[in-house]
Amino acid sequence: MLLSPADSKTFLWILFIFNAMGCIQSIRCKPKSFRESIIVLEVNSSIDSNPTSIDESSGVVLRYRTPHFRASARVLVPPVAGKETWTVGWIQACNHMEFYNNYGTKGMSSWELPDLREGKIQAISDSDGVNYPWYGNTTETCTIVGPTKKDTKFTISMNDNFYPSVTWGVPVSDSNLPLLSSIWRDQSFTTWLVAINQGSGETLVLQTVRWRMQLHIVIDPDKPLGQRATLMEPVIQEQPQILGKNEPIPTNAMVKPNANDAQVLMWRPGVGEPIVVIPPKY
Ligand SMILES: *[C@@H]1O[C@H](CO)[C@@H](O)[C@H](O)[C@H]1NC(C)=O
Ligand SMILES: *[C@@H]1O[C@H](CO)[C@@H](O)[C@H](O)[C@H]1NC(C)=O
Repeated sequence: MLLSPADSKTFLWILFIFNAMGCIQSIRCKPKSFRESIIVLEVNSSIDSNPTSIDESSGVVLRYRTPHFRASARVLVPPVAGKETWTVGWIQACNHMEFYNNYGTKGMSSWELPDLREGKIQAISDSDGVNYPWYGNTTETCTIVGPTKKDTKFTISMNDNFYPSVTWGVPVSDSNLPLLSSIWRDQSFTTWLVAINQGSGETLVLQTVRWRMQLHIVIDPDKPLGQRATLMEPVIQEQPQILGKNEPIPTNAMVKPNANDAQVLMWRPGVGEPIVVIPPKY
């Protein structure tokens, strides 16, 4: 091939580009690790805008139902080359819990997580109690068993709300006399989107969400059933925050016991020593 000086420059330039492309190609062709290749396509998180509903139909307990916290994510996993099994899903932990039911001057009942309250731990698992560390194992997780030839795309979602019963009467007495005067609740949670390698235990935090539920109900126990409770501010909950920088998962968020099994119902009287009404299950 005969080349004029101008052509030869072009020729070299083309060679250079081909070389550069080859380089990029060879980097591309090296199999990427799961960590490098998993993609979170979309994350949504919200707390429903409806206020907490209060049910006074029972003469024994007041029931209330808070709006739902929801989180969902669309995830893409490119082909997995090796014989690896990964589970991607939601893990939740409780960071803070204030949950008081006041009975006028008699005292208050309080659901407590002693280790969290005393600052011994930063967070406690909110797993369903079966599928540790996962929040659940239906819509909450997806498992990919390698090797896979194609992209795997899926949506995983979770939701949470509170639906407790609170006795109208003092819990440590046999009396049904309605004395419940107010309910105060303030709880914070961290919810992580996580991928865990079932073989090695390698854990990748893909997303971190923080949320809070606050509840204040004032009650006039002298009024007839159905007319006692009033929902106070905040009627609409603060929206969850999807953090720009992920937070590591504390150990206690991954293992037993979960919040349900560790919680204690205390009676804290206006005068005198506190009494354990319901001990922890764990
Ligand atoms: C996120 O919300 C948008 C708007 O409501 C919806 O179209 C989308 O499907 C949601 N994505 C996921 C992963 O839930
Ligand atoms: C979820 O966990 C329960 C309890 O361990 C188990 O019986 C059930 O088969 C699991 N379901 C799925 C879809 O993995």
